[in-house]
Amino acid sequence: MGFDREEILSSTAGGDELQIEAALRPKRLSEFIGQGRVREQLSLVLESALRRQSPPDHVLMSGSPGLGKTTLAMIIAAELNAPLRITSGPALERAGDLAAILSTLAEGEVLFIDEIHRMARPAEEMLYLAMEDFRVDIVVGKGPGATAIPLDIAPFTLVGATTRAGLLPAPLRDRFGFTAHMDFYETPELEQVLRRSAKLLGVGLPDDGAHEIARRSRGTPRIANRLLRRVRDFADVRADGVIDRDIAAAALNLYEVDGEGLDRLDRAVLGALLKKFGGGPVGLSTLAVAVGEEPETVEVVAEPFLVRQGLLARTPRGRVATAAAWVHLGMTPPPDAFGASLFE
Ligand SMILES: Nc1ncnc2c1ncn2[C@@H]1O[C@H](COP(=O)(O)OP(=O)(O)OP(=O)(O)O)[C@@H](O)[C@H]1O
Ligand SMILES: [Mg+2]
Repeated sequence: MGFDREEILSSTAGGDELQIEAALRPKRLSEFIGQGRVREQLSLVLESALRRQSPPDHVLMSGSPGLGKTTLAMIIAAELNAPLRITSGPALERAGDLAAILSTLAEGEVLFIDEIHRMARPAEEMLYLAMEDFRVDIVVGKGPGATAIPLDIAPFTLVGATTRAGLLPAPLRDRFGFTAHMDFYETPELEQVLRRSAKLLGVGLPDDGAHEIARRSRGTPRIANRLLRRVRDFADVRADGVIDRDIAAAALNLYEVDGEGLDRLDRAVLGALLKKFGGGPVGLSTLAVAVGEEPETVEVVAEPFLVRQGLLARTPRGRVATAAAWVHLGMTPPPDAFGASLFE
């Protein structure tokens, strides 16, 4: 496996990592750590469906990358003891792509559509009818002679996942009976994730090492798991494999993960905001150009965590750095900085 800095810092998964993720994925709801409210609500939905012996309502999951949406989708199918079909918005370019899937679903099957906000319009419209009435209209022929043949499909449960709930059209959003908003994880929850993963990977992880990695994992299990493996490499080479607090800290510094868990992209965004735009307000696309990233990457990957850390605010006039952001990057906030009164 190569030493790829981009991969270490990215919050999406790629390459070898997908296999390791699959191995570390909790398989049942009882193994799923954190997200207490979502877990409890979901267990009620699933339990009552099992009692009624009918498929549960359609479930929508929204949240930042790496918080466990795909994991939960798989758990839903496992808990229902139902088969699972997996596809994604971008794969559903034409209505026919979706029709082919819907018409071959088994009764009670769970259909997982990842990145559901990226589905093409015609497929989306077909999905409305399927979700509501378990029916699709198959259009045969073209032009004035075209006819729609209604086709019943087996009752199924749709599980949709999105990192951008705001982009879902209301008619689609409204057809989900249950919406789960996934939040960033607290440090103690990530410690639990790390202890579980360390056990599965056969890595010794003392509590102080787990704490240090957890608090610098950007509130994200995927990142916690990734950092664990990087810290283990470091510990193997430099410290006889013992991951204590100091070793974890030294490794994370090497990988450019700072004391609050901000990675290179996070700091680039904040740095540009402060140094090029005087703390803002500045528009998303201008900010994205300044850091050489797509606006979507800045918006989906970097910003939610910066907002949650109280370092950045989204205002109607644009993105604004808070006084805490100036302090975090070692600069003095101007007197009129957003939230500056907190520092007086
Ligand atoms: N609650 C959890 N408990 C333990 N491990 C978790 C939990 N949530 C996620 N993970 C771990 O994090 C990894 C990433 O989770 P997952 O693939 O479900 O994220 P995602 O929300 O689907 O991300 P994306 O938006 O990129 O698709 C999984 O391999 C799993 O090991
Ligand atoms: Mg996923």
